Amino acid sequence: MTNHKDTLVHWLRDAHAMERATIDNIERLLDRMKDYPAVCERYRQHLDESRQQLERLDTCLHDLGTDSSSIKDTATRVLGVAQVYATGAANDEPMKHCLAAYAYEHFEIASYEALIEAADLCGMAGVREACEMSLNEERAMADWLDKNLRLVARQYLQQTANVS
Ligand SMILES: [Fe+2]
Repeated sequence: MTNHKDTLVHWLRDAHAMERATIDNIERLLDRMKDYPAVCERYRQHLDESRQQLERLDTCLHDLGTDSSSIKDTATRVLGVAQVYATGAANDEPMKHCLAAYAYEHFEIASYEALIEAADLCGMAGVREACEMSLNEERAMADWLDKNLRLVARQYLQQTANVS
C-alpha cells in the first residue's frame, strides 16, 4: 500500500507538469489571440500567477525532500485536454483556444482540490496553504472565463461575418 506522503509527492509532481503545460498553453494562447485584447490582458495576469504557482509547487516539493529540478515534466501527459482543440489550424482556432482553456482551468481546480485533501491527510499545512492560494487563482480565472466566453464567441462571430 502506498503511503499518503508518497501520493502527495506524486500529485505535486503531476501538478508541476500541469503548471508547466499551462504556461506553454497560455504563451500559445497569447500569441494566437491578439485580436482579443481583454482575453490577452486577463491571461497575461494568469501567466504571472501560473509562474508563481509553479514556484509554490517547487517549494512544496523541496519541503518534502524532492528536488524539483530533477523533475522531467511529462508535460505532454497533461496536455491532452487542451490538445484536442488547440492543435491544428482550424479557422476558429481562437475560439477553440478559449474552450480548451476553460476545460483546462477546471482540470487545474480539480487537481488542487485533490492536493489539498492529500495535504490535510499528511498534516502538511504549508502545502495546503500553497495549494489553496493557487486554487483561488484558478477559480478566479475560471469565473472570468465563465463570464466572458460568450463575449469572445460573439466577437468571433461578428468578425467572421464581416470578412465573409
Ligand atoms: Fe495554474
